[in-house]
Amino acid sequence: MVSTIQKPEFEEIRPGIKVPAKETILTPRFYTTDFEAMAEMSIAANEEELKAILEEFRTDYNRHHFVRNQEFDRSWEHIDGETRRLFVEFLERSCTAEFSGFLLYKELGRRLKNRNPVLAECFNLMSRDEARHAGFLNKALSDFNLSLDLGFLTKSRNYTFFKPKFIFYATYLSEKIGYWRYITIYRHLEQHPEDRVYPIFNFFENWCQDENRHGDFFDAIMRAQPDILNDWRARLWCRFFLLSVFATMYLNDTQRSGFYAILGLDAREYDKYVIEKTNETAGRVFPIVLDVDSPEFYDRLEICVGNNEGLRAIDSENSPAPVKFLKKLPIFASNAWQFLKLYLMKPIRVDKLAGSVR
Ligand SMILES: [Fe+2]
Ligand SMILES: [Fe+2]
Repeated sequence: MVSTIQKPEFEEIRPGIKVPAKETILTPRFYTTDFEAMAEMSIAANEEELKAILEEFRTDYNRHHFVRNQEFDRSWEHIDGETRRLFVEFLERSCTAEFSGFLLYKELGRRLKNRNPVLAECFNLMSRDEARHAGFLNKALSDFNLSLDLGFLTKSRNYTFFKPKFIFYATYLSEKIGYWRYITIYRHLEQHPEDRVYPIFNFFENWCQDENRHGDFFDAIMRAQPDILNDWRARLWCRFFLLSVFATMYLNDTQRSGFYAILGLDAREYDKYVIEKTNETAGRVFPIVLDVDSPEFYDRLEICVGNNEGLRAIDSENSPAPVKFLKKLPIFASNAWQFLKLYLMKPIRVDKLAGSVR
């Protein structure tokens, strides 16, 4: 029988189990930290707020949310060709990112259990949420006859070590940007039901509330350690993390604009909105935010987008690896230069507004 359905080929570890996408500077990262330092951290300065957040986690608003309904119960073979490839890529990247949160929070919950019970329980309950998110996405992959072996992923990935304060900056931002990404897609599809090509997006409204609460937890924990928000080092590091998170998302999404187009979204418009909102949100806790309204910001990012296209073109050439590397060098240099210039752009101080409502 000749199938008329055009199916992209995916490499498999064993039948139905997808080989994880190659790790690059732009793929979701796995983290580990100094558990000892984390256990010794005092939360006294903001204990009330943290306990209130713990109560919210215990309430478990989304206990019954992640249940696959009959909308999934049909064939998804009509999503084929490039669209299918983009879908699988989106589901895999999202699942990997959610699962990376699960692993980190789970380990923190385990290691802090006897030393810092409030934090330990918060981390455990957040890992519960991330496990649901990752599991739901992995189940969605099975609609495309694939899944990820999360045990294999746990063992095979590289882990980036970050001191606790860097974990806080990075996870705070990834939770808040996750919130804005999910809610923006949800609201768009609410306005444009004709673009609802797959039911997982209908779950994003309650889902993103989990991410928002996780973000609020990291906001509260940073406030419990005011020294990581108050000095010139904090201003430099917050600038660095904001830029890294925004630039990574922009480069990833512009490269996959086809996926957003399936949902009726313009990848650039979508990212600019998500960046504006996340930047604004971060201003409630970070001492600075980035000047994302300056035209220079996106002009420089666009140079990097062009550079990355150049890198991919070199990758697909047939020349030997050393030749490719030499060809890539000036492009790497240009990316580094753009990143440096972006980093040196004057940020907006928001800590001077302290005392007023931020
Ligand atoms: Fe999540
Ligand atoms: Fe989360």
